[in-house]
Amino acid sequence: MAKFNINDKVGDIVSIYPAAADIFMAYNIDFCCGGDRPLEVAAQEKAVDAVKILDEINKKYEASINEKQDYEDYTKYSSKDLIDHIVNTHHKYLWEEMPTLSKLTQRILAAHGDNHPELNKVKTLYEDLRKELEAHLKKEEDILFPLMKAYEDAEEGKAKDDMLEGIRNLQDEHETAGNILKELRSATDDYKVPDDACPTYVMTYKKLEEMERDIFLHIHLENNILFKRYEE
Ligand SMILES: [Fe+2]
Ligand SMILES: [Fe+2]
Repeated sequence: MAKFNINDKVGDIVSIYPAAADIFMAYNIDFCCGGDRPLEVAAQEKAVDAVKILDEINKKYEASINEKQDYEDYTKYSSKDLIDHIVNTHHKYLWEEMPTLSKLTQRILAAHGDNHPELNKVKTLYEDLRKELEAHLKKEEDILFPLMKAYEDAEEGKAKDDMLEGIRNLQDEHETAGNILKELRSATDDYKVPDDACPTYVMTYKKLEEMERDIFLHIHLENNILFKRYEE
């Protein structure tokens, strides 16, 4: 029995079955900023077969149920716990990884930039992303997340309008980061390393691709689960 159908929203599918994120990423389907679209629409945009993707998801989902695989169900987290989880895993990861990737993108540019001029673009895009994300993470940690926690405690907050405006602003910033990631993916030809790449080059692309994945999952938790609760 099929569990999901093509009218289900891609963000909701990932909320229920997190491993679907990897399937969507393989097809370049945006499930975090564009999580509100039905699978049929999201697949159409990428000119891929929604039924085929759905089939793949449902098969894996059924197998995971049969094998009793456990997935962390973030929809069941309280908003406070979800915020703490986001900060302690995804934010922590970015704060640790971003300076390292600045050094690495600089190093491969210096060593291989002559033969691979696209590394200039990679460096520029990466630094744009880092700058965007640093301001964004700070805004969440210092302003919006404390507001959200306080709102939950008070049940009805006077500051709700401010908070909703803040949330819309964060969603726009997610979109900006998502667009830079798209450009990075195309500048690196889907993170394909050239034949003459050194181990540092390989590691840098691997880390950049890991960062993309982590950011998508991070934005998914915020846009499709956390922020939605306050907007309803
Ligand atoms: Fe965040
Ligand atoms: Fe965010």
